[in-house]
Amino acid sequence: MITKIVEKAINEQIRKEEHSSRIYLSMASWAQVNGFQGAAEWLYAQTDEERMHELKLIHYLNDRGGNAHLADLEKPATKFKSLMDVFQQVLKHEEYISASINEVYAVSIKQNDYSTGNFLQWYITEQTEEESTVRTILDQIRLAGEEKGGLFHMDKELAAQAAKKRTSQLAAATTNAGI
Ligand SMILES: [Fe+2]
Ligand SMILES: [Fe+2]
Repeated sequence: MITKIVEKAINEQIRKEEHSSRIYLSMASWAQVNGFQGAAEWLYAQTDEERMHELKLIHYLNDRGGNAHLADLEKPATKFKSLMDVFQQVLKHEEYISASINEVYAVSIKQNDYSTGNFLQWYITEQTEEESTVRTILDQIRLAGEEKGGLFHMDKELAAQAAKKRTSQLAAATTNAGI
């Protein structure tokens, strides 16, 4: 059985993961209509990844005897200045989510809930990877911005990364389904 305090913290994280999914969906739509097809694919794939993060938390909380609740979400931004602006906001958001996961971890340890602490290790690793990936993308956009056609190549690179993301999402879905 999970304590009410840990349940509340996980429910708050469920809201944040769902919100992340919506933020990236809005960014994906912007990228698609502004000619960044690769970035759009990357962000659409990221949207699904965040939903998977949300689902994992819902299943965990309910499996432990808690009750997962969905919450109201703020409307995400719909206008962005540039591709650089989009990914700067992605990084800022991921840093915020990392801090939030650390906070849920701290709450669970304080409550002597080591199972939840153990479960959250996956999220801690995931956040380190996500931040690192986005920092690399930002470096590449910065470099690309200095030469003609650079952004076009950057967009192709994002399309390739999105394809890889889709492959691993498919593998994860297959594993989770027990196929
Ligand atoms: Fe996430
Ligand atoms: Fe994320």
